[in-house]
Amino acid sequence: SPAPLNVCITGAAGQISYSLLPLLSSGHVFGPDQPLNLHLLEIPPALPALSGVVMEIIDGAYPLVKSVIQTSDPKVAFRGAHIAILVGAFPRRAGMERKDLLAKNLPIFKAQGHALNEVANRDVKVVVVGNPANTNAMVLSHFAPQIPPTNITALTRLDHNRALAQVAKRMDVSVLDVHDVCIWGNHSSTQYPDVTRATADGKQVLPKMGGFGGLAEGFIPLIQKRGATIIQARGMSSAMSAANAISDHLRSWILGDSQVVSMAVPADGSYGINKGVYFSYPVRCVGGGSYEIVQGIELDEFSRKYVEATAAELYAERAEALALFE
Ligand code: NAI
Repeated sequence: SPAPLNVCITGAAGQISYSLLPLLSSGHVFGPDQPLNLHLLEIPPALPALSGVVMEIIDGAYPLVKSVIQTSDPKVAFRGAHIAILVGAFPRRAGMERKDLLAKNLPIFKAQGHALNEVANRDVKVVVVGNPANTNAMVLSHFAPQIPPTNITALTRLDHNRALAQVAKRMDVSVLDVHDVCIWGNHSSTQYPDVTRATADGKQVLPKMGGFGGLAEGFIPLIQKRGATIIQARGMSSAMSAANAISDHLRSWILGDSQVVSMAVPADGSYGINKGVYFSYPVRCVGGGSYEIVQGIELDEFSRKYVEATAAELYAERAEALALFE
């Protein structure tokens, strides 16, 4: 069997990680022949809880799990990492402004950027999940200059999957028969879930989704607010579906995917988005850890307005973060 993959997870005692670890350990993410070393990072107060999670991994008797490290030192966790899944972040508390959340997370992603830069595998593939995910990815990349910025991504696959599922439901087809759905921009309530070109079973979905008016009134806000709706219902944020989306994101990225998927990646000027922010685009994952932003989409005026709004939010987040750099 191949050499073990060193997979680092931060926030490893949290609820997303609790749903993600079984997917990783069972071979669902990287395949049934790929052994893993799990490198689990937590903050010191959560290390006792993490030790319980590690006992459960051991008790899972997973043949693919070769070793498990538990630590609160990013340099230990990131050493030799091939894959880094950055879930740990400072949580948003009631009354916190976006600025406050950025200020709390900046030192975390700065320190982790430094550590990644120093000790991770040169070709490490990173997915940032902790919010504000796009801007945390931007901060991380800034402080990890040796890691190619395109090796760092932020998760918008959960939003993508939510959009796919809602279209499939509305069109009464399998999710497998829905194509050309994507998420543009920020993983936030300004994201633009775009189904204007989507097809279900080969048919355009736009008319059946109520045209542009129907999208603006129904589908788009439903996807934008889905996370908040789940918090309201569950009293906790989505974890099972988030873990599933991380699994999908990594599988597509590393193993390739015949479908166009959504990933937040460094903006390169495509679709008029300024460099310097991490922006969710439709991407084609060609396998072996490479992807390309899908080019040549003609954005109609309706879509363009949403894309510009989410870009404006990301530029503002970037400016707020840059003001905190020293
Ligand atoms: P959680 O609170 O259950 O777990 C987070 C864990 O991270 C905690 O155990 C905490 O101790 C740890 N942590 C905090 N700071 C850390 C640091 N500096 N280093 C290492 N670990 C640290 O939260 P949950 O539900 O697992 O969510 C985690 C993050 O993911 C949140 O920021 C949430 O907003 C975000 N999220 C993002 C989604 C996306 O689609 N991008 C979807 C769902 C959640």
